[in-house]
Amino acid sequence: MKKFDVVAIGELNVDLILNGIENEVEVGKEIFAKEMLLTLGSSTAIFAANVSSLGSNTAFVGMIGKDSFGELVKSSLLSKAVSTEFIIETEKFATGATVGLNYGEDRAMVTYQGPMDVMTFNDIDPSVFDQTKHIHLSSVFFQAGLKKDLVKILKFAAEKGVTTSLDVQWDPSEQWDFDYKEILPYVTVFIPNETEITLLTHSQTLEEAIEKVKPLINICAIKQGNKGSLLLVKDGTNHFLESFLNTQVVDAIGAGDSFNSGFIYQFVKGGSPKECQRFGNLMGAINTTSAGGTGAFVSKAVVVQLAKDKFSQTITL
Ligand SMILES: Nc1ncnc2c1ncn2[C@@H]1O[C@H](COP(=O)(O)OP(=O)(O)O)[C@@H](O)[C@H]1O
Ligand SMILES: [Mg+2]
Repeated sequence: MKKFDVVAIGELNVDLILNGIENEVEVGKEIFAKEMLLTLGSSTAIFAANVSSLGSNTAFVGMIGKDSFGELVKSSLLSKAVSTEFIIETEKFATGATVGLNYGEDRAMVTYQGPMDVMTFNDIDPSVFDQTKHIHLSSVFFQAGLKKDLVKILKFAAEKGVTTSLDVQWDPSEQWDFDYKEILPYVTVFIPNETEITLLTHSQTLEEAIEKVKPLINICAIKQGNKGSLLLVKDGTNHFLESFLNTQVVDAIGAGDSFNSGFIYQFVKGGSPKECQRFGNLMGAINTTSAGGTGAFVSKAVVVQLAKDKFSQTITL
């Protein structure tokens, strides 16, 4: 028996979001914002919080500073029942932070990566690999140390009988410098969105990207926004599943991370790839019914009710 179903390894930061800003920012001037929100940021943390809310025993591996933002990160994870016992605290850097300036639908963001960029395989407590069934990795382009050690981590997990999933997420440099040919064979479940997989494989079209990854993947689920998702399996399965369309989207922040949560929740329970895909689509849809990445995932009961009321789906968690 493993202590954890899922361990998420990834970036941790706070988000400081400013709304209702009167004018465009200009260097050398000061302006007012009407609203402010300080909250746990990070795509990998949204995944961890939501997979935990669905019922997977979850822990997080990430690096933070010894400061009040670090305390906020830890208490936010704990409030979602995500274990913080493997979180690494460093004296050398302040906890990562993103400052977001919202202008209606548009947003300007500045991120201080801090410790997330320097964490490597050697910082991770090796006993993590003995204590979990599954490891989820995400946001590799925000984490140079982790990206460099990706194959090492994936190989070590495989040796320990631990399954893995990877969502590369966006590359802010837009270089897409990533050796997918070497890495993908070690990944049990690869979960990019359609733009990311196309750019990552330096393809012109999604079809071209699919042809390139097909010989390399084990299970691959490609997220396609409000269209749904496409599942590819090593055995030749190629299955498009339409979304549980939400026509009254509050926002789509974290929809992809929530898809990952649904998919991996089913996966660690032994669900078939198609069952995992259905749950991914449903959790992505549920995500869009509330503000932010974790707003809809208050409790198992709330998720069950949302599935029934909004999408006429009966689920048990
Ligand atoms: N408007 C919507 N209605 C229903 N489901 C949606 C909607 N938007 C997204 N989803 C679901 O969420 C999943 C992930 O969203 P997507 O935007 O593709 O991911 P990412 O955030 O990684 O780009 C989709 O595959 C889909 O199943
Ligand atoms: Mg995403």
